Amino acid sequence: MAMKDDIAEVLFTEQRLAEIVKEMGERISRDYTGKNLVMISVLKGSLIFMADLMRAVTIPCSIDFLSVSSYGSGTTTTGEVRILKDLDTSLEGKDVLVVEDILDSGVTLSFLLKNLSARHPNSIRLCTLLDKPERRRVDIRPDYVGAQVPDRFIVGYGLDYAEKYRNLPYIGVLKPEVYAG
Ligand code: IMP
Ligand code: MG
Repeated sequence: MAMKDDIAEVLFTEQRLAEIVKEMGERISRDYTGKNLVMISVLKGSLIFMADLMRAVTIPCSIDFLSVSSYGSGTTTTGEVRILKDLDTSLEGKDVLVVEDILDSGVTLSFLLKNLSARHPNSIRLCTLLDKPERRRVDIRPDYVGAQVPDRFIVGYGLDYAEKYRNLPYIGVLKPEVYAG
């Protein structure tokens, strides 16, 4: 059984994703020229996006990674997020760009923004490949958005369902029977 058999509809092809990421990289390169850019990937979902985006950035930058506890599908969050794996490097004086796969309720990123801001960076901005504005529960606006998506559960290009489909090279909507099964 191939992964593609579980996909009802493709929303972003590999080619479209490459175009979106290239454009974001160009914008970031312009905006951060002469700055001390550090790109921070929020694991695991932003892994693929991060790898492509950093290669679309044409100015020097450093990278770091962190991972946060997820509150799981179907459960309601208290807004409490925990850092499971922290950064290796200091953010003091750095121009931080947080790189996320998708901005949904905004709870995760709003927590991260507060936490990272307390580490005295020179600046901090959010970059997300996808944005589901309909689902927002906290007031948070990303500085860089690849594309807006409707309120449907999507997988691929780093995004998972129960830890699967991250390695799908495009982004698509799962067939409902996958959830039911
Ligand atoms: P939130 O903005 O705090 O609600 O959480 C965002 C996180 O939820 C993302 O980093 C994803 O891991 C996950 N997420 C939200 N929507 C989707 C989706 O449609 N597919 C897969 N993961 C999703
Ligand atoms: Mg995630």
